Amino acid sequence: MSTETKTIRKLTVPEFRARKGGEPLVVLTAYSAPVAAHLAPHVDALLVGDSLGMVLYGMDSTLPVTLDIMIAHTRAVRRGAPGTLVITDLPFGSYQVSSQQAFETSARVLAEGGADAVKLEGGVEMAETIAFLSERGVPVMGHVGLMPQRIAQMGSFRAQGRDAEAAARIMVDAQEVARAGAFSVVVEGVLEPVAVAVTRAIDIPTIGIGASPACDGQVLVSDDLFGLFDRFTPKFVRRYAEIGAEIGLAAEKFAADVRARSFPSERECFAAPKAVTPPAKNRAS
Ligand code: KIV
Repeated sequence: MSTETKTIRKLTVPEFRARKGGEPLVVLTAYSAPVAAHLAPHVDALLVGDSLGMVLYGMDSTLPVTLDIMIAHTRAVRRGAPGTLVITDLPFGSYQVSSQQAFETSARVLAEGGADAVKLEGGVEMAETIAFLSERGVPVMGHVGLMPQRIAQMGSFRAQGRDAEAAARIMVDAQEVARAGAFSVVVEGVLEPVAVAVTRAIDIPTIGIGASPACDGQVLVSDDLFGLFDRFTPKFVRRYAEIGAEIGLAAEKFAADVRARSFPSERECFAAPKAVTPPAKNRAS
């Protein structure tokens, strides 16, 4: 894999939307400033996903993630990648009550966090909210198919759209999200033909995760891609690195050096200053 970095000018929301059917859009999740800085030259957008609840905080689901947590991580990502399109997930319970609640939450994410856009889960039932936000200047990315915030209802992280009725529901969800004014939609964990059909049917970019290469772009949870999250690895994840193993190795070497008293070395210590001889005129006679 090439390590060459290229500087990509910040993509605007209209430019992101205009990539429908064009060069595939590359999106990765980021939660911290240094990781965002490493990823920024290679992606079209960074997603501050509420997946951080599971991969950073060790939660069992994304449900306990709060708005304050999302804002704090959005700020960090914005600092690390000031020139990149940043999209932030609205956490569970922060937008489903009403369009007004969704607007107030989004306003905080944009104003305090510095995000360019928000993402929210839901189809037909969220269309009114998406329209309300879009008409008031909040760019919205939708999220249909497998929706992790509905894990209790869905029962598992199994791929969705397994029968004609379920596939048709995902199609209608995506169409309504697009019609409501979303600039893009994540299609997660659906049977491949469903993702292909949805991508053909709507005029905004579909960003696939566990979906299809035919989607207009792809997103992955970066900790999965790094080989940093080991609790489970979904079938759709491709691990491009084994950073978790590297971290373990580094800790093992450090521990061995400490126990052998070979760390710190002389070079890694601050030597005592050399004795200073006062100038002759100041000396007591
Ligand atoms: O929370 C997240 O990281 C997401 C992606 C998996 C799309 O929603």
